[in-house]
Amino acid sequence: MSCWSGETPIPREVLLSDARGKQALITLLTEQVDGDLLDAAGGQLRIVANYAVGVDNIDVTACTARSVMVTNTPDVLTEATADMAWALMMSAARRVAEGDRLLRSARPWTWGPETMLGQDVHGRILGVVGFGRIGRAVGRRAAGFGMRVVFNDRSHSPGTAVSLGGGGSAKAVAMPLDDLLAAADFVSLHVNLSKETRHLITAARLASMKPTAVLVNTSRGPVVDEEALAEALERGTIFAAGLDVFEREPEVSPRLLGQPRVVLCPHLGSATVDTRLAMGMLVVDNVLAVLHGQRPPTLVNAEVWERSRRSL
Ligand code: GLV
Ligand code: GLV
Repeated sequence: MSCWSGETPIPREVLLSDARGKQALITLLTEQVDGDLLDAAGGQLRIVANYAVGVDNIDVTACTARSVMVTNTPDVLTEATADMAWALMMSAARRVAEGDRLLRSARPWTWGPETMLGQDVHGRILGVVGFGRIGRAVGRRAAGFGMRVVFNDRSHSPGTAVSLGGGGSAKAVAMPLDDLLAAADFVSLHVNLSKETRHLITAARLASMKPTAVLVNTSRGPVVDEEALAEALERGTIFAAGLDVFEREPEVSPRLLGQPRVVLCPHLGSATVDTRLAMGMLVVDNVLAVLHGQRPPTLVNAEVWERSRRSL
């Protein structure tokens, strides 16, 4: 067994050499799992267990071709990530981080009728882009704020009403993306990163949003054209943004760093004590299942398992 315990991601050459001969790899989203790594690991490799729900760092097709199972950590991080999206939404709308910086700057301040005015959250329209587990959990929270929820998702045709669950009667209504962007006061992104969703939020789409709107991204950085967003914030095309993820992590665009109306967090969506523990336990369950010849609980490429059953 090899274990990297450094504070920064494992250097690529260490990963390539330590992977050799292993049956299981446990990876973080900072590791690129591609054909070269799989070849370096060799034919004994049976599972790549990602400590994340997103698997955009993994070439799943290359794993499937080599009969390597890929697992992720869904469900256990849904609620924590939805909480984070709300933290960013509220912080951006009510200028929480900006206010914090003002006080720490020791600049004089006084209560004023027009000081640091933000946007109302309650009673507004929340647009959720990507209505999977996390998107729904974000939508469900909106009931407590008396918000109307609309969503866009490729598996629901426009007009479909979906129950938000959680015991209430609240429903979310599906909309075409461009209609959603024009209608929503808050837009929260919850799509996987893929060829189709890279730069889903373009300059033109930002321009179609309300000047009072807040954009929140807790999914993957490249879903938003970061330079276009910086430009939109500088011009006041939208009111504010909350970002937990970036196009070139850990780099953050200097234009965003200089922009007071964006709340920035270092990819903390699932970063709570209990959630990270649950993710770790799920990773271990996945690895142990595969090493014991069982189907892992959260398998991404089921065809590898099915193929192995057929060949028994
Ligand atoms: C984190 O971003 C994850 O995909 O779990
Ligand atoms: C503000 O602090 C108020 O009391 O209205």
